[in-house]
Amino acid sequence: MMNRVFNLMLVQRQIHNLALIGFMGTGKSSVGRMVADTLHFTFLDTDHVIEARAGKTIREIFAQQGEDVFRDLERRIVEELTRRKRTVISTGGGLPINEANLASLKTHALVVCLWASPEKIFERVHNHSHRPLLNEPEPLEKIRRLLAERGPYYRQADVLVNTELRPLREVAGQVIHQFRLAQTVHR
Ligand code: S3P
Repeated sequence: MMNRVFNLMLVQRQIHNLALIGFMGTGKSSVGRMVADTLHFTFLDTDHVIEARAGKTIREIFAQQGEDVFRDLERRIVEELTRRKRTVISTGGGLPINEANLASLKTHALVVCLWASPEKIFERVHNHSHRPLLNEPEPLEKIRRLLAERGPYYRQADVLVNTELRPLREVAGQVIHQFRLAQTVHR
């Protein structure tokens, strides 16, 4: 943790916003809304912006236009976010796999990764059908594989918060604490 705080001091960054990254089902949207409410920040969910602009659900975009088109829409939104202030940004689970996206978020936001084990994620998402990447015969296997591939990207966040052993309200409290700490360090 000290190393991460130290990194924030060494690299010139403007921490205006807070970005939540992490795998599907780790609670980014729920935690993001709570954090935004407490800080009186605007809440923005990249998936919602994409759906509103495309006039389609994520599922339809994947089915009709393919994942590459979706990733391109994600990339464009990330570029626009550099102009935001006082915003909590909840990101789609695959967004930080593009290293340019993560680098861009870090220029203006504290990047916090929410973490959970594959089993816990499966428990949280298995009743939902809106995530095209998990509409598979063996979703738990897919979660394990994707999480292993994505782990190195998620671990580049400034802060990692385990969401497994505590209620989301406490996770939100931890995220707010880290954000305030980063702002103090940075002043
Ligand atoms: C994705 C995660 C989803 C959504 C899309 C792809 C991913 O967002 O962006 O289905 O690649 O992990 P959530 O993490 O909000 O479910």
